[in-house]
Amino acid sequence: MASPSYTGLSEPFAILTPRLIVIPTPIAVDVAPYREMYAALHADAGFCRMGFGERFPVKNWNDDETRDVIETRDIGRSWRRRGLGDFAVALRPQPGSGTQQDSSSTVSMLRGEEFEKFVGPNGARLNELQWVGYSGIRDATTTSLPPQEAGEEPYPDWLEMVEIRYGVSPAFWGKGIAPEASNAVVQWAMREKGVTRFIAETERDNQRSGRLLQKLGFVHSGTNYWKERCGGYFACPASRYEAQSVVTLLDTKIHIPIISDLLNKVGVLDISFLDLLCWIAAVKFTVVYKLIEQVPPFPTNDYSVQATISANNWDELQEIFGQSDWSLKPKLPTAIQKPFFEVCHGTAGSSA
Ligand SMILES: CC(C)(COP(=O)(O)OP(=O)(O)OC[C@H]1O[C@@H](n2cnc3c(N)ncnc32)[C@H](O)[C@@H]1OP(=O)(O)O)[C@@H](O)C(=O)NCCC(=O)NCCS
Repeated sequence: MASPSYTGLSEPFAILTPRLIVIPTPIAVDVAPYREMYAALHADAGFCRMGFGERFPVKNWNDDETRDVIETRDIGRSWRRRGLGDFAVALRPQPGSGTQQDSSSTVSMLRGEEFEKFVGPNGARLNELQWVGYSGIRDATTTSLPPQEAGEEPYPDWLEMVEIRYGVSPAFWGKGIAPEASNAVVQWAMREKGVTRFIAETERDNQRSGRLLQKLGFVHSGTNYWKERCGGYFACPASRYEAQSVVTLLDTKIHIPIISDLLNKVGVLDISFLDLLCWIAAVKFTVVYKLIEQVPPFPTNDYSVQATISANNWDELQEIFGQSDWSLKPKLPTAIQKPFFEVCHGTAGSSA
């Protein structure tokens, strides 16, 4: 590479996901095609409107200005100060064996000789990559948050206030690039920097970004750190993120030779480990209940059963059950309570 030392990095490295290579901006700032892509994003009215709202008009930066923006706003304020910041995202020339579905589970690091080999002499190969976006993290308390006013409760430790941000070239939207890259950056931040909570803000009508955050395990938070400037505030403790990653891993589709082939032929798509576990549990559950009651559990014409099926997340489930505090005994609707009670007792009795 042209420069042996990079601000904010103890050593050069890259993160590999099945389809992407993710590189810290102290390295990528020297890559002309990355700067070009970064400038093009900020000159795109649709991109700016979606990502930053009306308060950020399009910018027509030339190459020097783009370099200056990256160096001052990201490298200077984030990498130099906290050892983390934005990452540049490119497509891998030869994608790994993973697919979009298992993108969250396979993240690896390239360091030392492996990194040097990948980027080639003077980082030449970085100039040949297709750069598609950025994904970053930053200490919100020293970068994007407005100054605190007198009497306000002080912010928690900065490791609980790490903001996640991302942007993808419009030609690549809808392909799962932002979640794949963000997952890699979040995993790196937890492991290497000890980040314990991530926060995010979105424009009120930025449903794509909201959906992406939910996929990463973020939930709406009641905090108002940015003081009503935007519409959506999200948070995700590292523990919740890890739990979400396990669910994503379990939900990865599996193809069982012969059985899946036959099922696919009659229109049943591949199942996941989670599907398989749920089916096994459901069959046992139904059989025990039918033995006791002579009718199947969970009548489809029951409102509470339908509402439970249609819940999209834990919060909606809590609302349906009218239970805001799960530390108390949950009040399940009768149609759900009865089979639950009988099957648990039946199973416990037969096991004893
Ligand atoms: C938000 C953004 C980063 C999403 O990146 P991405 O790589 O396209 O992410 P995904 O492929 O996972 O798509 C995210 C969601 O967008 C929605 N989406 C995808 N394609 C869509 C389309 N053609 N029309 C409408 N919505 C669509 C989907 O809800 C999708 O979630 P799903 O896969 O669960 O259905 C990207 O659109 C972007 O760069 N926007 C401008 C900058 C911005 O908004 N940054 C965030 C600031 S908070």
